[in-house]
Amino acid sequence: MRPEYARGVSEHADTGRARFAETAEAVGRRSDERAAEFARRIRRLVSPTGEERALDSGSGTGALAFALAAFVREVVAVEIVPELLAEGRRRAAAYANVTFVDADATRLPFADAEFDVAGTLSVVHHVPRPELLLAELVRVTRPGGTVLVADQVAPADPLAALELNRFERARDPSHTRVLSDADLRGLFDVNGLVLVRAELEEERRELAPYLDCAGCGGEARERTLALAPGAESYVATIGWYVLRRPAPA
Ligand SMILES: C[S@@+](CC[C@H](N)C(=O)[O-])C[C@H]1O[C@@H](n2cnc3c(N)ncnc32)[C@H](O)[C@@H]1O
Repeated sequence: MRPEYARGVSEHADTGRARFAETAEAVGRRSDERAAEFARRIRRLVSPTGEERALDSGSGTGALAFALAAFVREVVAVEIVPELLAEGRRRAAAYANVTFVDADATRLPFADAEFDVAGTLSVVHHVPRPELLLAELVRVTRPGGTVLVADQVAPADPLAALELNRFERARDPSHTRVLSDADLRGLFDVNGLVLVRAELEEERRELAPYLDCAGCGGEARERTLALAPGAESYVATIGWYVLRRPAPA
């Protein structure tokens, strides 16, 4: 079978839709649990003035959108799975400045330079063509604006990265590929972005709840546990990258 990252975009979207449709409520609960932590981090990393129009690309139920909402003028959240959009819109009823839009993050329905801040949280490893996700984020960010990319980071050792991706794909068939720090920096470079800040942090993941939240049960669970990097838990590296789209000289 072809690996997920080599499959077509629509084929992959169907896998993602099925996986997230089943777990939309759990994804929302998980976002709620981490909302305060994300808000603190976003404020520290992005230092918003309060005037920004911001984008959360591949928003799920809106973890990044709601973290930004208190600090910026307006947030637009883009998501492709209807069940996640519905869950996000339900949550957005409590916010006057967050709107959810049904769209593909790799073909955004926005004009060039519409946003002051454009971010994506845990989406790079879910798209077959991460270079399109990045290119679109950059296109819709105004020159001088901020791009935020956060996701799990693969080990530099290609064999270790291969094993990690095999495990993650067994847990969640819509997983494509976790990129390494070097891969991500390469993507930032080809898009002309200037790296302002990078923070790598370790996150311990208990396997049982981690598999539960992807709806990984039955035979798939057995297969996934056999590939797991640890017996009961494993430590993932999460990268937070703050980048600037340079203004013309
Ligand atoms: C791991 S989830 C992260 C969701 C959210 N950003 C968060 O951190 O809670 C990955 C998200 O990317 C979305 N996604 C994947 N491909 C997409 C695409 N082409 N356009 C829009 N959303 C996409 C999925 O539907 C899912 O909501």
